[in-house]
Amino acid sequence: MTKKVLVLPGDGIGPEIIAEAVKVLNLANSKYNLGLELVDGELGGAAIDKHGVPLADSTLALAREVDAVLLGAVGGPKWDTIDKSIRPERGLLKIRSELGLFANLRPAILYPQLADASSLKPEVVSGLDILIVRELTGGIYFGTPRDTIILDNGERKAFDTLPYSESEIRRIAKVGFDMARLRNQKLCSVDKANVLESSRLWREVVEEVAKDYPDVELSHMYVDNAAMQLVRAPKQFDVVVTDNLFGDILSDEASMLTGSIGMLPSASLDANNKGMYEPCHGSAPDIAGQGLANPLATILSVSMMLRYSFDQSQAAEAIEKAVSDVLDQGLRTGDIMSAGMRKVGTAEMGDAVVAALEKL
Ligand code: IPM
Ligand code: MG
Repeated sequence: MTKKVLVLPGDGIGPEIIAEAVKVLNLANSKYNLGLELVDGELGGAAIDKHGVPLADSTLALAREVDAVLLGAVGGPKWDTIDKSIRPERGLLKIRSELGLFANLRPAILYPQLADASSLKPEVVSGLDILIVRELTGGIYFGTPRDTIILDNGERKAFDTLPYSESEIRRIAKVGFDMARLRNQKLCSVDKANVLESSRLWREVVEEVAKDYPDVELSHMYVDNAAMQLVRAPKQFDVVVTDNLFGDILSDEASMLTGSIGMLPSASLDANNKGMYEPCHGSAPDIAGQGLANPLATILSVSMMLRYSFDQSQAAEAIEKAVSDVLDQGLRTGDIMSAGMRKVGTAEMGDAVVAALEKL
């Protein structure tokens, strides 16, 4: 039976990195007889230009129907002044929420070849392999009320709301524990329970879920300390589970441990492992259209797709090996460039991964 993948290139560098990831996906598809069919759609600014909204109903319907979604990145200065209700990012948040993609897996793995590209000392980051499990459909990103109002004295005031229900915390905590079980049985839950009400419930519920996982060693850390520990001694972490906003921030921080945010893939999964796969980085409008972007985070997101949505771990591992081989060959995009390496552009990097995958 054919399985369908919806491809949403998005904006900025999105189309460039997606083009390379699709080359790799097409090759994996034929090489490993995956039986995947790719369909195209628009999200973000591209969708605003075509449909007037950042996520058209027809695209959302398609997203519900397919087996997985591959996404580039959304947003850019062109749409910065647009009404806030139809900003490109709204489309991204809507598709995450409408598809129920509550579990966002963001692995930060340092390829040994890139130890020099990290801004941290090689001994601090070598061998680094962290998985950040970010709650993706709740918390302050979606909480209401949220608004900007004018006070009686004419002053503007804005507010957001950070709600978490027990069931939302429980299901993401379970993903954290399950992931820890597959790895090194260590889970760190990150919150701000010394200040926030929602974090106090978070901690309580995580403790309750822990009773079902006596084999996993659970620790709790306040988010400010976690941000500091990530750059002080990142290898103390294995799996980190945290809320939507903290996960957004900590995953960007963790990406720099691996050399560049251009290396960080992600999977956003629903309760049945249907998923959307996207690089953690944004649309980088400053370098868009110049062939400078690193396509590896998106290519590695394809690998996550094959593993989590299609249970094709052999093909997934082959893509990871191809990426590693290309790094061994000394090819580097600008963001991971270091002395003695060969600087390449987006397409050359993608083609090199294709060539390496062909050989495997
Ligand atoms: C991410 C991005 C998004 C987020 C933006 C583009 C809305 O930063 O996926 O990390 O904040 O979730
Ligand atoms: Mg982010």
